[in-house]
Amino acid sequence: MFIDSHCHINLSGIAQRLPDVLEQMQINSVTHALCVSIDLDTFPSVLKIAHAYPHIFASVGVHPDYEHAREPDVDELISLAQDPKVIAIGETGLDYYQLKGRTLDVMAWQQPRFRTHIQAARATGKPLIIHMRSAAKDTLRIMQEEGAAEVGGVMHCFTETWDVAQAALTQNFFISLSGIVTFKNAIKIQEIAKKVPLERLLLETDSPYLAPIPYRGKPNEPAYVSHIGRFVAQLRGIEAEQLGAATSANFFRLFRIRSK
Ligand code: NI
Repeated sequence: MFIDSHCHINLSGIAQRLPDVLEQMQINSVTHALCVSIDLDTFPSVLKIAHAYPHIFASVGVHPDYEHAREPDVDELISLAQDPKVIAIGETGLDYYQLKGRTLDVMAWQQPRFRTHIQAARATGKPLIIHMRSAAKDTLRIMQEEGAAEVGGVMHCFTETWDVAQAALTQNFFISLSGIVTFKNAIKIQEIAKKVPLERLLLETDSPYLAPIPYRGKPNEPAYVSHIGRFVAQLRGIEAEQLGAATSANFFRLFRIRSK
């Protein structure tokens, strides 16, 4: 009934208990998951899981936070994205959270790396998975400058304002809600969760990080997207089944997946 549009089940800690993680998905009616790449060194482990299980998909990309990660160029991303299980480019984007008042030149790699990913996405026709933290203005500007709207994609783990959400929606992007929406102090995101058009909404765990209530502080896993889905359905005053069907259809439409 639900799909986890963003998880990292290839990472150490959760990868060791993969059979259990997949069984819990089944028990909780979580039908598919997208295992998202964070760097080129661990990309093979993402691909391996996606190849082993028909209901797990992969992306390819290098996270903006990793200064010392091997830098991809457009051609390498295009080539790695040729694998049929790779349905998206990312995660990419901008993250200025660590700047804390310093000037941007201490993170000079972020913007060129982000542009590289958008160019690869346009070349392959595959949508983008965008990580945006404390950097909404520059993220939206670079998306615009590089023509990200042509392929679209998802603003993952969305925690920004409604204005930012609307700007992303205008650029042909979906809004994905993580377990943060279930936190008691997440009033602002809960309001956004009510307003995003149902046909542009996705759900994710970002596991093994960010476990939703009632698992907050514990390791997260894709099965818990069912808690997020039920919570968001209640916020919007609709049945969980309706939200699950809509967000699943959105996932297949955005990532151009024909068969379920
Ligand atoms: Ni992530």
